[in-house]
Amino acid sequence: MEKTIEQIEEEALKELEASTNAESIRALSIKYLGRKGLVTRFLRNISNLQQEKRPEAGRKANETKNHLEALFRQSLKQFETVSHQPNGQVDVSLPGRSVRYGSIHPITLITQQICNIFIRLGFDIVEGPEVETDYYNFEALNIPKNHPARDMQDTFYISENVVLRTHTSPTQPRIMEKQRPPVRIIAPGKVYRCDSDLTHTPMFHQIEGLLVDRNVSFGDLKGVLTAFVHQMFDEETSLRFRPSFFPFTEPSAEVDIRCVMCKGDGCRVCSKTGWLEVLGAGMVHPAVFENVEYDTTHYTGFAFGMGVERIAMLKYGIDDIRKFFENDLRFLGQF
Ligand code: DAH
Repeated sequence: MEKTIEQIEEEALKELEASTNAESIRALSIKYLGRKGLVTRFLRNISNLQQEKRPEAGRKANETKNHLEALFRQSLKQFETVSHQPNGQVDVSLPGRSVRYGSIHPITLITQQICNIFIRLGFDIVEGPEVETDYYNFEALNIPKNHPARDMQDTFYISENVVLRTHTSPTQPRIMEKQRPPVRIIAPGKVYRCDSDLTHTPMFHQIEGLLVDRNVSFGDLKGVLTAFVHQMFDEETSLRFRPSFFPFTEPSAEVDIRCVMCKGDGCRVCSKTGWLEVLGAGMVHPAVFENVEYDTTHYTGFAFGMGVERIAMLKYGIDDIRKFFENDLRFLGQF
């Protein structure tokens, strides 16, 4: 006996429910609605029915055809939208892929911390060029040509009178040329020296400080640097000023802090001395003032310069400066 249209529809729906991919839906569509499909054949055979049964059977068969067509189309769409997944399935229980956040480079972080301390002390942040003229890098800072102090800094020359700056000190004459006292500035930035080992990279970072006003004394320098060290490290960290030489300051000093690792007992980091050198400083040399036409009878000032990598290494207990520039995300992600 021939199947009724209701039976055909029922079977089609069951098969559709059991289908798991687009391929099987397409096969179902052919099986039921194709040229030789079950529904198509049923429709074609209606003319063989008794006259009075034809209209009702035709109506039902057309309804079934339309219904199945719509269902197959809908299911096909669903499977096709996820068909880039293996087997056309999505495992909704899988955890999502998390976004990897970047982090601030430790050198940037320490630079910001240092600058923020000086901003709170009333200093302005300025920047100078990394490609600098011989004049600002040396001459204006009282380091004439052939002066032995030039040997202290192995310089990258761009041309005879243009260099990659060897320190941030050239921002001192640059700012003083443009601005009359009082001057209170901090100048962070990259500097370059032809030098490379465990504690030196050809590019590194410095922070320069300069304060010029009436009646500025070495005591003011000590006060500002002490406030800085206490905020950067801790209140217990003491400072030591050792006499030194820089052509652009007189008197000059190297400033040491009590070793942050051993608190002064002596360890590998401080070479058993209990002290760590962190910066150079001094009272601005009158020759520097004369180069920028500042009146040395009214104004005095102090300046200092520190290495950012050095401070960062002490703060984080890092023993190889090159780690900062290898771009290893396992290292950089820790700060
Ligand atoms: N520019 C010096 C250097 O790179 C550091 C320095 C020392 C800066 C004394 C200063 C200073 O401003 O007063 O070694």
